[in-house]
Amino acid sequence: MQSGRPTSAILLVGGFGTRLQPLTFSTPKPMLPVAGIPFTEHQIAKARAAGITEIVLATSYLAEVFAPHFGDGERFGIKISYAVEKSALGTGGAIANAAGLLRGTGPIVIFNGDVLSSHELQAQMDLHRSGGADVTLHLTSVPDARAFGVVEMDGSRILSFNEKMENPPTKIINAGCYIFNRSVIDSIPRDRAVSVEREVFPALLAGGSKILGYLDSSYWLDIGTPAALLQATSDLISGRAQSIAFTELLHQDLYTRISGSLVALDAQIEPSAIIQDGSLIASKVRIENGATIVGSVIGQSARIGPGARLIHTFVAPHCEIPGGFIAENQFFGYLEEK
Ligand code: GDD
Ligand code: MG
Repeated sequence: MQSGRPTSAILLVGGFGTRLQPLTFSTPKPMLPVAGIPFTEHQIAKARAAGITEIVLATSYLAEVFAPHFGDGERFGIKISYAVEKSALGTGGAIANAAGLLRGTGPIVIFNGDVLSSHELQAQMDLHRSGGADVTLHLTSVPDARAFGVVEMDGSRILSFNEKMENPPTKIINAGCYIFNRSVIDSIPRDRAVSVEREVFPALLAGGSKILGYLDSSYWLDIGTPAALLQATSDLISGRAQSIAFTELLHQDLYTRISGSLVALDAQIEPSAIIQDGSLIASKVRIENGATIVGSVIGQSARIGPGARLIHTFVAPHCEIPGGFIAENQFFGYLEEK
């Protein structure tokens, strides 16, 4: 507290994860495993390391999945509570709804629940304070900004914010981690769906609020598509991306590294099988002779038959892939609908 940095946070985990179906029919996007652990654990560990002591998970779609896993947060060294939206309130509505559960009175850190980022959260906090901002956004540059919130800037001050536009004026985007002063949260309309990107940011800018941008070039990825989800696992395994939760997992000695992939120690891998390109082989998996696994995630107790070849593919826990089967960019064993 001496630094005056925020100690309270909200994690937005209520989206439908539409682009990740069928993986998200039964598991909300933030609970999908990335490098062997539910994605939300990566973000909770990041928040804790930056001095956050309490976090509210803003849940809606499949809300019931989170509490049994995270409980009151004791196991994760942080106080966790749950705001449940009966119907999705949008990102702004979710923030307003969740803020009521926080005890702290200072600025609040808000995370999109699907961003793997190595940015220095404490440096963003320091800019928020030293710059006397109402809101401070983490920003990053991408080659194609059309699928994101795009900003125009003057120094570190944000002049405009446009969510998902066809001809973006810059390549600098909203990276999905904000610091909000309480007064900003109090200004969000209650009890209806509100988008922070389409409504709150433009309204704040029009009203003269001071919105700053913390722009950096550290590792950043939105895990919202199947390709990105596999990329995140592979980048963590290779060390291109960093995560405290992943480092802690490695210290548990449950996995070994095989040609740039991570393989559970209790998985049975026949010697002639090939595993490569940042694959994740979970506990009790069996991979038969001559099978090849490239950049794929194989769920717990699944069995991959002899000679099968799986490329950038997801295999659900307990699923059996027949011998000789060849697949690329596929999903096996996931529910077809809710
Ligand atoms: N609780 C709650 N309620 N959470 C929600 C809701 C809701 O109604 N709608 C979305 N979320 C959560 C999602 O679960 C996700 O973690 C986060 O809010 C952002 O939603 P996405 O659906 O992933 O949005 P996006 O990726 O298209 O765009 C957002 O992220 C980009 C960076 O990855 C925007 O914030 C963009 O401006 C940004 O550039
Ligand atoms: Mg997203």
